[in-house]
Amino acid sequence: MKSGRIFVLFLMLPIVTVETGVFDFFSGFFDNDKLRPFNSKGFGKDLRKSLYGQHIALETILKAVSGFMKDSNPPKPLVLSLHGPSGVGKTYVTKIIARNIYEMGEMSKHVHTFITTYHFPHKTQTESAMYESQLKQWIHGNVSSFPHSMFIFDEMDKMNPHLIEAMKPFLDYMPHIDGVSFRKAIFIFLSNAGQDKIVNLALDFWRKGKVREEMQINTEEMETHIYEQIFNDKSSGFRQPCLIDQHLVDHIIPFLPLELRHVQWCVLAEMASLNIIDLDVAHTVAKEMSYYPPEEKIFSIKGCKTVRQKLMLYIDD
Ligand SMILES: Nc1ncnc2c1ncn2[C@@H]1O[C@H](COP(=O)(O)OP(=O)(O)OP(=O)(O)O)[C@@H](O)[C@H]1O
Ligand SMILES: [Mg+2]
Repeated sequence: MKSGRIFVLFLMLPIVTVETGVFDFFSGFFDNDKLRPFNSKGFGKDLRKSLYGQHIALETILKAVSGFMKDSNPPKPLVLSLHGPSGVGKTYVTKIIARNIYEMGEMSKHVHTFITTYHFPHKTQTESAMYESQLKQWIHGNVSSFPHSMFIFDEMDKMNPHLIEAMKPFLDYMPHIDGVSFRKAIFIFLSNAGQDKIVNLALDFWRKGKVREEMQINTEEMETHIYEQIFNDKSSGFRQPCLIDQHLVDHIIPFLPLELRHVQWCVLAEMASLNIIDLDVAHTVAKEMSYYPPEEKIFSIKGCKTVRQKLMLYIDD
């Protein structure tokens, strides 16, 4: 098999001239930063194994991403907006999605992450105009060379509304813009916008003594709640050129606050990566985290963030 490949390569060498790009030929041949053949079963398995306490997000992401990846001619790019408190798996799930789509996972050059306060920190009009044109060029350039590019925007609620406005055409039902089709691209927005509503819904459910896994947030109702909160938040970047209002976001996905048992699973996952398992330590570390509301102490304030650092305090060299 291997010698066969080398033979074919040598046969082809004379017809690849310097002008037609020897470099392109070789980089294409050896390029391992490609799409993986998409396997929705494997994706579901990975989500169920790795993402804890997020049954609503899990099901929506599984269906949305699988449906999109299987569609050879989607009418528009996939646009997901993930909402919820801190440390509950929003960024983490983007890594799970990436490793199921690209051979090189989150390290793929086709996964582009922008953090609003880091990449677009300034707010003057000149700076914002500059970011606008750079962002457009960046998206356009990358999608033209790799249609299945993924763009992740963190702290989306802090983004300047003009920048969001500039992105809108890319998210829409457009056959192409300047000769490039964006329909195979994936945009994921991350934010804490709507977290109060999500937490209150989860808290009400818990107070009624219902089983968390039966919580089925009606997505339309959820959208309305998140939508209201975004609208009431005068500083929210989502607010002005409302992407949601114009139905450019395909799915608004709530992430629930995590309970002690989920934090415990996060500790166990960290332990497994260090080749240790100790249920007592996992329980102790999870208990060390702070929980809210003050009376009932159900939800972890930091979610699973800082779990690893806490765990280190209990591990002997
Ligand atoms: N639901 C979860 N299931 C499994 N692990 C989780 C979950 N939530 C968080 N973690 C762990 O905690 C780490 C931090 O979570 P993550 O970065 O996804 O938080 P986030 O929701 O993006 O928070 P923020 O809003 O502050 O950015 C993850 O890298 C992962 O190891
Ligand atoms: Mg995050």
